[in-house]
Amino acid sequence: MTNPSLLILAGDGIGPEVMAEVRKIIDWFGAKRGVSFDVSEGLVGGCAYDAHGTPLTDETMARAQEVDAVLLGAVGGPKYDNLDFSVKPERGLLRLRKEMDLYANLRPAQCFNALADFSSLKKDVVAGLDIMIVRELTSGIYFGEPRGIFEEGNERVGINTQRYTESEIERVARSAFELARRRNNRVCSMEKANVMESGLLWREVVQKVHDEEYPDVELSHMYADAGAMQLCRWPKQFDVIVTDNLFGDLLSDAAAMLTGSLGMLPSASLGAPMANGRPKALYEPVHGSAPDIAGQGKANPIACILSFAMALRYSFDMGSDADRLEKAVEKVLADGLRTADLLGEDGVQPVSTSEMGDAVVAALDASL
Ligand code: IPM
Ligand code: MG
Repeated sequence: MTNPSLLILAGDGIGPEVMAEVRKIIDWFGAKRGVSFDVSEGLVGGCAYDAHGTPLTDETMARAQEVDAVLLGAVGGPKYDNLDFSVKPERGLLRLRKEMDLYANLRPAQCFNALADFSSLKKDVVAGLDIMIVRELTSGIYFGEPRGIFEEGNERVGINTQRYTESEIERVARSAFELARRRNNRVCSMEKANVMESGLLWREVVQKVHDEEYPDVELSHMYADAGAMQLCRWPKQFDVIVTDNLFGDLLSDAAAMLTGSLGMLPSASLGAPMANGRPKALYEPVHGSAPDIAGQGKANPIACILSFAMALRYSFDMGSDADRLEKAVEKVLADGLRTADLLGEDGVQPVSTSEMGDAVVAALDASL
C-alpha cells in the first residue's frame, strides 16, 4: 500500500512558522506510530505571487487535486493589499476551494477548559462549548455572476450575486445532518429567508433533505442575524449550524472569538469522495496570516496542529490518533503553557511557537 500523501502549502505571514510545528507532529507519527506520510510542499498566496506572479500556479493546483489531503497555513499580508483582485493572495485559496469543489467547510468552535477565562463572554456561557459550523464554501456571493465594478450613467456600481442551486444546498445540508448524527443530533440552519429568495430556497431545501433523509435529526431554522445574536447570548444551545458562504464566514469568526481561542481553531474543507474513497480535502487554521507578529516566534501553532488532527480523522480514518493528538494539546494547555496570544493570567511567561510544538510532541510521547 502506498503512503498517504499530503501537500503542504504554508503560505504567508505566520503560516510557515506554525506549519514547521505540524511537521514535527507528522514526523512523530512516522517515527512512533508507523504512519509515514508522503509530504510535498508548494507555494500559495503572496509568496507564490512573489515567485511566479500568481497566487497559485497550475502545477500546484494539479498537485492539490492528486494528493489525499492539502494542509494550508495562511495567506495574505499588507504587502499585497494593492494588487489587482485577480492576483491577490486570497485568490489562491479561493481557487483551491472552487476547483477541488470543497463545498463543506467544517469549523468547530470549541472552548478549551483551560482557556474559558479568555473569552470576552462570561465563563459559564462558554465553558464546555462545542459547536460545529458547516459553511457552504464553493458558491453563493463569493462566486456568483454577474460580478464586477461597472459604469452606470455617470457613476460606478459594484455588483456581486448571491446564487444557490438546489443541489448545492442539498449536498451541504447532507454534510451537516451526517455530522449531527455523530454529535448531538441537532442542526440549526441559518439564512435570511425573510429578505432573500436564495435564503427562502435554502430553507425549503434543507427542510426537504431533512424530511426525506434525516427525520431522526432535530432541525431548526433561524434568520442569520438572529443567529448571530443567539451565538453571543447562549452559544451552547447549538450543536451543528449550517449556513451559506458569506454568513458562514461571519458567523464562524464570531463563534471562534467567543471561545477565546482564535489561535486555536482548526477547519476542514471537504468535497466529494475520490476514487480511493477519501473525500477531497483541505485543512487549515481559522486564523489568518497575522503579519504583525510574523517571524517572531510568537504565533500559536495549535490551530494548525489541530487542523492536522482533523486530517487524521476525516481523510485518513485515524480517529483514535486524532483523539490522541487533541488530548496532547489539552494536556499542554492544562499544564499551563501559553503562547503570547493567550496571556492574561498573572505571572505566566509566554512560550514560543516552537516550544509549544515541542511540548505537544512530548505530550504525544507520554501518551504511548
Ligand atoms: C476565511 C477567510 C477567507 C474567506 C478569505 C481569506 C478569502 O476569511 O477562510 O474565513 O473569506 O473565506
Ligand atoms: Mg473569514
